[in-house]
Amino acid sequence: MPVRITGTGSYVPDRIITNEDLEKLVETSDSWIRERTGIRTRRITDRGVTDMAVRAAKRAMEQAGLLPERLGLIIVGTSTGDCLFPSTACQVQAALGASNAVCFDLSAACSGFLFSLNTAAAYLEAGLYRSALVIGADALSKAVDWTDRSTCILFGDGAGAAVLQRTEADEGCPGSPAEGIGPFLMGSDGSRGECLICSGGPLRGPETPEASWDYMSMNGREVFRFAVKTVPEVLEAVLEKAGLKAEDIKYFVLHQANERIIQSVAKRMNQSLWKFPMNLSRYGNTSGASIPILLDELNRRGKLERGSRLVLAGFGAGLTWGATVVVW
Ligand code: ACO
Repeated sequence: MPVRITGTGSYVPDRIITNEDLEKLVETSDSWIRERTGIRTRRITDRGVTDMAVRAAKRAMEQAGLLPERLGLIIVGTSTGDCLFPSTACQVQAALGASNAVCFDLSAACSGFLFSLNTAAAYLEAGLYRSALVIGADALSKAVDWTDRSTCILFGDGAGAAVLQRTEADEGCPGSPAEGIGPFLMGSDGSRGECLICSGGPLRGPETPEASWDYMSMNGREVFRFAVKTVPEVLEAVLEKAGLKAEDIKYFVLHQANERIIQSVAKRMNQSLWKFPMNLSRYGNTSGASIPILLDELNRRGKLERGSRLVLAGFGAGLTWGATVVVW
């Protein structure tokens, strides 16, 4: 496995919305939200997705010790970018001064970081670039209807980033065959797209001057059923592909959608819940940002020793899902 994560970074906005704050907006209660989801607080940005992505990226680049002009590729997994164009990735490039990077966004909702990681790793393994910056950044606060109690309680804003580098010894980046990223197992099912959808602001043609903004709509039970069935399946499959057992894994870093989903996955995998770290009580569901934010927290708290085996797994709208093994 020739590609390693050499730096991580994350950013969440300062503004905190508590469950008690939400009680003033919609008919809900702190206890309902905590019992059904595990969420206590979430962060909301007033500066947008690019701002959060740049802050997370700077932290990851600093930890990797990589000069921005050495970056070959920037991919941002987002479905809530500030503009239709230019892409968030191009805006990050400009802010970092990563003048030699090729930049694009990737849309896979809550699986956006994992799909971006898969894409970047494939480019690096194919020898097209030596380094990549992969970011998951979302502001779902822009996409939810704040009068809809079934969705507005779930989400928060944030960004997380990882620097990937090829690990050939002659590039001065130490590595061994026992470390790196992969294999990946990814999936999509567009036929079930309606159960979690946000058409957003439709583009206006000359015949349709009165376009309105469409907020997210979600069939919560359907999404829940999808997650608790598909995530254990993809975890088992990626472990089998890697020739590993669940017992070989230190942490399962799952998309942070709902505490009950993660508890169910741990139970089905017959693994202790402590192997499934969570931060969703503080941040809610930050969509494409949740996996890299959690990864960065584990990294900066010293929980990831060299050689630690992790599994990252994402799932979300599309429907989309995927998992990979990371040897730190
Ligand atoms: N406060 C109080 N009551 C509420 C709220 C709320 N915020 N939201 C819904 N209710 C009510 C409903 O109206 C319903 O009332 P009724 O029985 O009188 O009709 C009752 O609570 C039960 O509603 P359900 O939707 O059946 O509640 P459920 O137990 O399924 O929990 C939840 C809802 C938390 C959304 C759950 O379905 C879930 O977590 N689904 C997964 C969705 C998810 O994680 N989406 C994130 C995006 S996708 C992703 O990241 C993968």
